Amino acid sequence: MTEVAFLLNGAPVRVPVTDPTQTVLDWLREARGLTGTKEGCNEGDCGACTVMVTGPDGTPQALNACILFLPQIHGRALRTVEGVGTDAAPHPVQRAMVEHHGSQCGFCTPGFVMSMVTAHATGARDHDDQLAGNLCRCTGYAPILRAAEAAADAPVPDWVAQDRAALATLEAQATDLHMPESADALAALLDAHPDATLIAGATDVGLWVTKGMASLDPVIFLSRIADLRGVSVTDTEIRIGATTTLAALRRAIAPLHPSFAELIRRYGSEQVRNAATVGGNIANGSPIGDSPPALIALGATLHLRRGDARRALPLEAFFLEYGKQDLAPGEFVEAVSVPRQRDRLRCYKISKRFDQDISAVCGCFNITVTDGMVTAARIAFGGMAGTPKRAASVESALTGQPWSEASIDAAAQAFAQDFTPLDDMRASARYRLESARNLLRRYWFEDQGTRVSVLEVAP
Ligand SMILES: Cc1cc2nc3c(=O)[nH]c(=O)nc-3n(C[C@H](O)[C@H](O)[C@H](O)COP(=O)(O)OP(=O)(O)OC[C@H]3O[C@@H](n4cnc5c(N)ncnc54)[C@H](O)[C@@H]3O)c2cc1C
Ligand code: FES
Ligand code: FES
Repeated sequence: MTEVAFLLNGAPVRVPVTDPTQTVLDWLREARGLTGTKEGCNEGDCGACTVMVTGPDGTPQALNACILFLPQIHGRALRTVEGVGTDAAPHPVQRAMVEHHGSQCGFCTPGFVMSMVTAHATGARDHDDQLAGNLCRCTGYAPILRAAEAAADAPVPDWVAQDRAALATLEAQATDLHMPESADALAALLDAHPDATLIAGATDVGLWVTKGMASLDPVIFLSRIADLRGVSVTDTEIRIGATTTLAALRRAIAPLHPSFAELIRRYGSEQVRNAATVGGNIANGSPIGDSPPALIALGATLHLRRGDARRALPLEAFFLEYGKQDLAPGEFVEAVSVPRQRDRLRCYKISKRFDQDISAVCGCFNITVTDGMVTAARIAFGGMAGTPKRAASVESALTGQPWSEASIDAAAQAFAQDFTPLDDMRASARYRLESARNLLRRYWFEDQGTRVSVLEVAP
């Protein structure tokens, strides 16, 4: 029988899988009666369904159970709000929520508690960021944040280490679902099933199921492939494996390109960044994906593989037109690499809300200046066209010119040749073009050491 095995609140369980795209949220509530995990939006936005999952590296992560499929937790430890404390011995976070009046409604509180329990276990102190994916509709964040701070120094309960220790035995459990454990195994499997849907973080595919009611068959899960995960840095390049999560990329890229890391801080929420992968963010071809503009500005090369055949292309060439990528049946994203370089990258995301929102415009600039002259320029945008796209005319208008405000003003006019943006609910075409011009000016001012104070929120 097709089964998955994991720890549920400390106890090993084996669960028969009839539908590999059944969500953890539905299974918890409907099959196990664990209704502490709530369904709010069912699309990863509100955090009411937050659970804690500890994977092979032993680090607990907050994830949205509504867009997490059961096979994605095979071999992992799952904790729900029912499994973190008792009435007699509440978790320090639960106690602090009571003492600081942070429990305001029964709907959001379990999700807040699970984000806070996870942050407490990892020692994270950036409570604003940790809780940005938990929406409180009554806007009473202050008592919740006070509770998170009050609990931060309390000892971590023993069950966190016990879950970690128990993972070793779970890892060995086999499943006959399509869950390859290496890139080679994936290549062979996808070659045999070129029509299969790959599922990496499911922050996109999850919504096809929960909102689009799609029935996906066959599917291949990428979550157990170790050799597609991680960032390696050499003297000449930074190579990012396709299943590296945005959270892991943020940590790895911060010392090298801090503005890219700051852009990722604005990507979804902690729960979304813990699931979403760089490969998924590229492969879905979204014109408003946040990592492609930054990677293109850094001169990224995309590495694709089908069976044993590999090819590499400039990342911008992968995006052919809206909804169409240069990806053949049976082919998958193996990695993306960028050359090591002096950090000149600045990324700017403009969205309606600061946290947990999709870009209206995402502009990334990487301009090299030598002896006062622009010697190279790579500028890429999301939200300005049907694909992530370079501003080729602006780049050539700048290259070879003095690095001056006059050059910036002249080159900024060329944005109208590069882009004919859309009017949509996120921003008007006029606003987008004006923003692109102003972001180039902002890059220049910041490069001169002028602090630019802005609210990165669309009107
Ligand atoms: C609440 C919420 C907030 C979000 N906020 C942002 C945001 O701020 N910025 C942003 O850019 N995006 C955002 N997203 C979108 C989403 O996170 C991205 O599109 C994500 O990167 C997809 O990656 P994934 O690993 O989850 O992909 P999945 O959903 O698993 O897959 C997406 C697509 O890519 C394919 N795929 C996955 N991996 C590979 C591979 N290695 N090779 C070939 N094909 C592959 C899948 O088959 C599928 O077609 C948000 C999503 C949610 C739900
Ligand atoms: S129910 Fe809203 S994020 Fe899952
Ligand atoms: S805690 Fe639920 S609306 Fe504020």
